[in-house]
Parts: sequence; structure tokens; C-alpha cells
Amino acid sequence: MDLYIDTANLDEIKQAADMGVLDGVTTNPSLIAKEGVDYSTRLAEICKVVEGCATGAPGPVSAEVIATDYEGMIKEGRRHATIAGNIVVKLPCTLDGLKACKTFSDENVPTNLTLCFQPLQALMVAKAGAFLVSPFIGRLDDIAQDGMELIAGIRQIYDNFGLPTKILAASIRHPLHFVQCALAGADVATVPFKVIRQVMQHPLTESGLEKFVADYNKAFGT
Ligand code: G3P
Repeated sequence: MDLYIDTANLDEIKQAADMGVLDGVTTNPSLIAKEGVDYSTRLAEICKVVEGCATGAPGPVSAEVIATDYEGMIKEGRRHATIAGNIVVKLPCTLDGLKACKTFSDENVPTNLTLCFQPLQALMVAKAGAFLVSPFIGRLDDIAQDGMELIAGIRQIYDNFGLPTKILAASIRHPLHFVQCALAGADVATVPFKVIRQVMQHPLTESGLEKFVADYNKAFGT
């Protein structure tokens, strides 16, 4: 499973890239707003950081459009796509987003169809040629629906028909979501920096390490 980081914070992206585990980046308007930076400038900076990340090739960077109408999405998406060769145009799972997805697919511009909350949205965007689909797990859990069932349902539909769109599990809030996505067969998980750090923390690793060092120092007095 590929690992993307879900942030527009450059320092977090650099730290994850330095860990050697990063395959790409996803951003969204809320994440950019949090950083308070110019959108295009930040996208260019992110693309540069992930030029040679874990996959060895420039990692995909999802750049979301703000427009909600077809014409606006096309205009904005084309502008994003000029920033770097690893930009993936991120579009919403709406009727206009679907149409824009088809236009970009015909132009060989990769797309990520976001805000996916039910399996038929995923089927439709795959038919329109989406490179990635982003089902939001945490936000379904928030309304007492099992987000992981959505991942499993899309996996089954895509496998039934050999659809090549990659499932990018999004709105991951904690390590349990992350591991469940891997078990359910998501192709990619986009994970906040906090969760990337959390998965390498285990109390038995920490106490075991302390004991190794203490035993060694006791025996050799270093
Ligand atoms: O990738 C989508 C993600 O940013 C949404 O996460 O936690 O706001 O639902 P969240």
C-alpha cells in the first residue's frame, strides 16, 4: 500500500520524506487555508520536496480545485497541472466533478475524485477515468456509519470489473483506521503527520529499548 501524507505543511512533508516512507501528498482547501500561504506557491514547493520520494519517481501531489462548476474546475485544474508533472487534479464527486474528470482523463491529466461517501460514486468516477478516488472514512464514522465498509465495498466493485482507479483511503484519524485500510485492500492511505508518527510508537518497543541500554551499561559501565 502506498502512503501519502495529508497536509499542506512543508515541514511535515519534509520530515515524512526523510523517513523514507512517503509516496505522495494530498492537500485540500482547508489544509491550505490552515497554512495561510499562496496556493500555487505552496503546491510548487510540495512538488519539489516529493520529487524523489519513496517510489523513486516524483510522488503524486493532489491539488484540489476551489471552483464547484465544470468550467471553473477545468480552468483551475489546468492551471494546477502546469505547476509540475506530478500534480494530480483533485475534483469533488459531483456531477460537474464527474464531467471534469472525463475531460481531464481525455487529456491524460490524472485526477483524484474526493469527498466520496458511497460505492456508486466510486464506480462512476472510475468509469470517467479517475486515477484516484478518495473515500472519507473518518467523516462516515462521525455520522455513525462504518467508513471501512465503504473501502471494502469499493474494493469489491473495482475487483469485480477490473477497474484500474486506485482507492485512496482518506479522512484517516488514527492508526486503527490506517491498519484497517491496509487489510481491506486500499491502494493508498493518506494519513496526517500525527498518525504517521503514532504508528512507530509502541510501549513495548520503548521499554525494551530502555532495558537493552540499561543492561549493557550495567555490565560494561558505560
Ligand atoms: O484527505 C481528506 C482529509 O483531509 C479529511 O480529513 O479528518 O478532515 O475528515 P478529516
